[in-house]
Amino acid sequence: MAKSTLPPTVLHELNRQLNHELGASHSYLALSLWCAARNFTGFASYFAKQSGEERTHAEKMIDHLIDRGAVPEITAIAAPNRDFSSLLDVALQAQAMEQANTKGIHAVYEAALAAKDYPAQVLMHWFISEQVEEEAWCDEMIDRVKAASCAGSLSDLDRHIERHLAGDGK
Ligand code: FEO
Repeated sequence: MAKSTLPPTVLHELNRQLNHELGASHSYLALSLWCAARNFTGFASYFAKQSGEERTHAEKMIDHLIDRGAVPEITAIAAPNRDFSSLLDVALQAQAMEQANTKGIHAVYEAALAAKDYPAQVLMHWFISEQVEEEAWCDEMIDRVKAASCAGSLSDLDRHIERHLAGDGK
């Protein structure tokens, strides 16, 4: 195996962040299960897809490390929060997770800038744009859950949530 070309600070940050992405995958699975148990099947399906997406985010970073001769270090994943009082509480948790993730992505980018590591900078451009989208759908989800003030409107929202958040809903 070739010697790694990664600056140590960037290697550290990418390793930290890829484990954070795996943790986000775990957390979205917990949100999905909470929703499934309460018959919010639309939200459950949406969060299950997000769980899969977070895993692919980790895999993008893993591939980058391997391509550059580094061995990714997988760490333990903490148990996710599973106690929520309402669907709004769940949506707020998703938003808090994405806001934390944006900070983590920016920290990787800052390390790549400081080290003049151009390949990692280009990699992180994709993630920076992705976080703008992810924070936007979290904000929209919270607005829509807040606006659904009775059981009937929540159930209607649940049926259409994936279409709404995919950007083709009304
Ligand atoms: Fe990997 Fe939700 O961003």
